[in-house]
Amino acid sequence: MNPSPFPHQGPLSPAEVRGRDDLLADLTGRVTRRAVTALVGPRRYGKTSVLRRLAADLTEVTTVWVDLYGVASAADLAVAFDTALDSAGAPVRATAGRLALTAQIDLGVVKATLSRPARSRPDPDVLFPTLLDLVVATALTTPTMLVLDEFSAITTVPAAAAKLRTALQHHYRDIAIVFAGSAPSVMRTLFTDREEPFYGQADLVDIGPLDRTAVHGIVTDGFISTGRDPERGAALVHDLAGGHPQRTMQLADALWHHTPDGGSVTDEVWADALTELRERIADPMSRIFDGHPASARKTLRIVAHDESPHGAAGQMLALSKNAATKARKALLDNGDLIRDTDNRLVVTDPMLADWIRTTLPIF
Ligand SMILES: Nc1ncnc2c1ncn2[C@@H]1O[C@H](COP(=O)(O)OP(=O)(O)O)[C@@H](O)[C@H]1O
Ligand SMILES: [Mg+2]
Repeated sequence: MNPSPFPHQGPLSPAEVRGRDDLLADLTGRVTRRAVTALVGPRRYGKTSVLRRLAADLTEVTTVWVDLYGVASAADLAVAFDTALDSAGAPVRATAGRLALTAQIDLGVVKATLSRPARSRPDPDVLFPTLLDLVVATALTTPTMLVLDEFSAITTVPAAAAKLRTALQHHYRDIAIVFAGSAPSVMRTLFTDREEPFYGQADLVDIGPLDRTAVHGIVTDGFISTGRDPERGAALVHDLAGGHPQRTMQLADALWHHTPDGGSVTDEVWADALTELRERIADPMSRIFDGHPASARKTLRIVAHDESPHGAAGQMLALSKNAATKARKALLDNGDLIRDTDNRLVVTDPMLADWIRTTLPIF
């Protein structure tokens, strides 16, 4: 049997990235001009995927990919930068390995040295800036693109952003630098607040949902190439997932699994696929929902039903205007709510909205 043509866990491989041609052309121009760029968008919108594709397309630069997901200390940062250099392509890896030895660092084993007994353990507060200097020194020897993925995590380590800024600030013309991150308000603050070390240092670029044409192409090609007829499948997927990349793929995958080999998407297939997916994700959805404070839960519920938090629905759920305003701001800041292309407030995750609508009606 074919594997599903709709992978929906983790980043895509470069060849699987679809519907991002305009964004890729824009990013290519920026990297070529050495315009420092910050790619901002909700979780699972395809930031990592599109940047991996960019790295694969740009053969004239070697990419140093720093994944800052979950970093919480200088030691974590040192490990993240060490791993990035150690796994970079040949010209960078070779130079970095050589330069590291002069700084008395064994590339690729920083994690192991940090777990030595206290006496022989390096000080991560010294090691981290040393590794930053190493990244810069290496990048100056060969055309390099430095990707800092999940960059908002840097705020969890005091003074880390300032150290990074110090290491990079005189090299914006030499090194192509791309930041990416999911927490929209943290990302914006990092580059637009005067108090922040990276204030005014990068252009913010938004990654949006996949458009209807892209979703149509992805769903249709996936079905056809595996001997199935999507019928109205692409439209159904788009109507529910609204172009949210990961949910689009997950929904298409569920639909594909319910469509017999050589068969087509019927109303019954769609209904079965939707029922099965809803059952499968009900627990995580309720956990996510329950993790929000009460006024945020009310706001999510009102928005999922396409009502206004300040209108009758707010009164019905006993949500004061003041609480509604605060909750809406917090939800927008965290990326749990976004504005759609018509500037309407929507729940970012369409399957959370679907779960709320089916579980919690508004009277
Ligand atoms: N261009 C795309 N076309 C189709 N699906 C995509 C695309 N980009 C992302 N996805 C879907 O979203 C999922 C998460 O992508 P990822 O790059 O990890 O997002 P992010 O880095 O923004 O959290 C992928 O597993 C895939 O299912
Ligand atoms: Mg990512």
